Amino acid sequence: MQDKIDQYTAEIKAFTSAKADELEAFRIKYLGTKGLIKELFEQFKTVGTEEKRVFGKVLNEFKQFAEARYNELKDSIDSTVTTEETKLDLTLPGEGVTAGSRHPLSLVRNEIIDIFKRLGFVVAEGPDIEDDWHNFSALNFPEEHPARDMQDTFFIKKNSGTDDIALRTHTSSVQVRMMENGKPPFRAIMPGRVYRNEAISARAHCFFHQVEGLYIDENVSFADLKQTLYHFVQELYGEGTKVRFRPSYFPFTEPSAEMDVSCTICKGAGCNMCKYSGWVEILGCGMVDPNVLENCGIDSKKYTGFAFGMGIERITNLKYVIRDLRLFSENDVRFLEQFKTEII
Ligand code: DAH
Repeated sequence: MQDKIDQYTAEIKAFTSAKADELEAFRIKYLGTKGLIKELFEQFKTVGTEEKRVFGKVLNEFKQFAEARYNELKDSIDSTVTTEETKLDLTLPGEGVTAGSRHPLSLVRNEIIDIFKRLGFVVAEGPDIEDDWHNFSALNFPEEHPARDMQDTFFIKKNSGTDDIALRTHTSSVQVRMMENGKPPFRAIMPGRVYRNEAISARAHCFFHQVEGLYIDENVSFADLKQTLYHFVQELYGEGTKVRFRPSYFPFTEPSAEMDVSCTICKGAGCNMCKYSGWVEILGCGMVDPNVLENCGIDSKKYTGFAFGMGIERITNLKYVIRDLRLFSENDVRFLEQFKTEII
């Protein structure tokens, strides 16, 4: 009997399979109702009292050893099976990759750039921090002009006036840099951020975005200005959008105008976006004042040209019916996510 126990112990120790069917065969062989251990217990009944005293303990310990080994192997199979199953659970929903989206202002800026590029305009940029000359003086702003006032401009250095340093209040400063640094003809658009000292509300912000346009060559007329902007509006808002020019005043253009488009929301019928007038102003424009050309070293007898400037926020609001300027800079994903389909 001892020999058999020793032999089985060695076999059980050597058994290491982690396969469910082999383990079941192992259980039947040793622990089954007709298994080898049962057989040993049957045999045990027939031995003498002296042997019973010796083998009783040995046999029980052997049986416990075999059961423990079986449970140990079973546990390891159970845990591997669960991990395998979790890894391969094809019913779990996919993890979904969240794609970002372009900011609505970038979408509209890119669209504006594309339209003008097709007309042969190049893109130019200038610094956000400007000196008095580029932001005001070269653009023909009189010394006492209210736009130079502390209330509108964020000054970084305020001295005598002509050597002030400020955050640019408009992208017209980039026209000056362009004309100073090059030779006509010029045909460029200049997108950028601008800053004004305004209280933040739904309709005003201390920074916003503009696109400036400049076209200088020989014999450029107001008719060229009108046709260029008319074409731009047809491309941006669709064929049939009406435009109208109203006389206006800017120090750097003469004559100057503001351009309205028929309200894109109500198509001119009247709504609260256009304050029931059917028209919305989208830009300022005019023929570049000869003083500005001369300030920038360009012969105003030989060259003429037009300029225009528009707010990107205004154009975006009209396109997407957005009524609160603060949404553009709050980074609320619930707002930004709505422009997902527009990824280019
Ligand atoms: N700089 C003007 C503004 O910020 C916009 C503007 C008007 C630009 C007329 C121009 C222009 O180039 O010709 O309000």
